[in-house]
Amino acid sequence: MQIVSSPEEMRRIAQQVRQEGKTIGFVPTMGYLHEGHLSLVQKAKKASDFTVVSLFVNPTQFGPQEDLDRYPRDFHRDRELLENESVDLLFAPEKSALYPEGFSTVVRVEGLTDRLCGQSRPWHFGGVTLIVCKLFHLVQPQAAWFGQKDYQQCQVIRRMVRDLDFGIQIHVCPIIRENDGLAMSSRNRYLQPEERKQAPVLVRSLAAANQLFLEDERSAARLVSAIHSTLARSPEARIDYVEVVDAESLEPIETVVDPAVAVIAVYFGQTRLIDNHILGEDLSY
Ligand code: PAJ
Repeated sequence: MQIVSSPEEMRRIAQQVRQEGKTIGFVPTMGYLHEGHLSLVQKAKKASDFTVVSLFVNPTQFGPQEDLDRYPRDFHRDRELLENESVDLLFAPEKSALYPEGFSTVVRVEGLTDRLCGQSRPWHFGGVTLIVCKLFHLVQPQAAWFGQKDYQQCQVIRRMVRDLDFGIQIHVCPIIRENDGLAMSSRNRYLQPEERKQAPVLVRSLAAANQLFLEDERSAARLVSAIHSTLARSPEARIDYVEVVDAESLEPIETVVDPAVAVIAVYFGQTRLIDNHILGEDLSY
């Protein structure tokens, strides 16, 4: 596995790979890899001639009071995991190489980013679209893989790719969960033992709404209320948002007619966890 930190070198290698007629598959990450990340890598690997994974804890998507400095990092372990997956290239740039002094450009997807996670973290998606845009230019993939775990992020990136004519295929992959249903996340390690014990209430609340949906409930308000009452059983859970929205536009709906997704964000202590489920798909917890 090649390890590259220089953006210029990354661009040069990508150009060379493409000149050889090979396809580049790309998985952007912030590292501290788990099976969720690796599931994306495996899919990218299967579908591409040359697989690139990036590892960059992107400062512009963290807020001033957020966990940038204490975001978990373990480069050696990540490198080993990616070597085991036979990834071709690990791109791990330095902050100063991607954000030189005087950097002043923004990349903003309007509308889609105002709601849900964008409401409690207004800086977040601007940082995500900015870095993904830059990484796409450097890595020059034909296709990139993202996790449904970050449902809104996937929709925002799809919109950016479409609106800015990137011509990159965006694949969205299923949420990988722990045995008890908690969606895998680098942030799970912040949970205190009691919080960790209660955290599967997220997936159970989604499963409750899904069960109601399968019993033909189509009122978004009643589906949301099923989620609320399940979450209420966990004394540590503090709700940021619970919504049932259109699966593509993320607009609020009253009645589920088109595909809809239940999306939730819940604090356990200082740790904010997100989860979601497309109503009607299998989910038993
Ligand atoms: P990060 O949180 O490291 O996630 C990298 C990718 O892994 C994202 O596409 C995310 O949705 C996916 N992922 C995380 N947990 C998952 C799980 N349990 N199952 C399936 N996929 C999962 O998301 C980011 O980094 C950043 O915002 C990034 C896109 C890299 C831009 O900085």
